[in-house]
Amino acid sequence: MEGQDLEEMIEEDLVAERIAIESYSEMIRFVGDDDPTTRTMLEGILAMEEEHADDLAGYLEDM
Ligand SMILES: [Fe+2]
Repeated sequence: MEGQDLEEMIEEDLVAERIAIESYSEMIRFVGDDDPTTRTMLEGILAMEEEHADDLAGYLEDM
């Protein structure tokens, strides 16, 4: 789905970031303590996705 204006586009991007956050969180739970290196890598990606979501939520607050 494509947004009609900037606010809608940002809202849709925020939904996508939240889906990514949920997916990486699920992968981290799946890996558990079996593979610390993979877990650390996934946690790094999750931190970036959380930052993206925070940025987008901040833009929406400022609108
Ligand atoms: Fe992202």
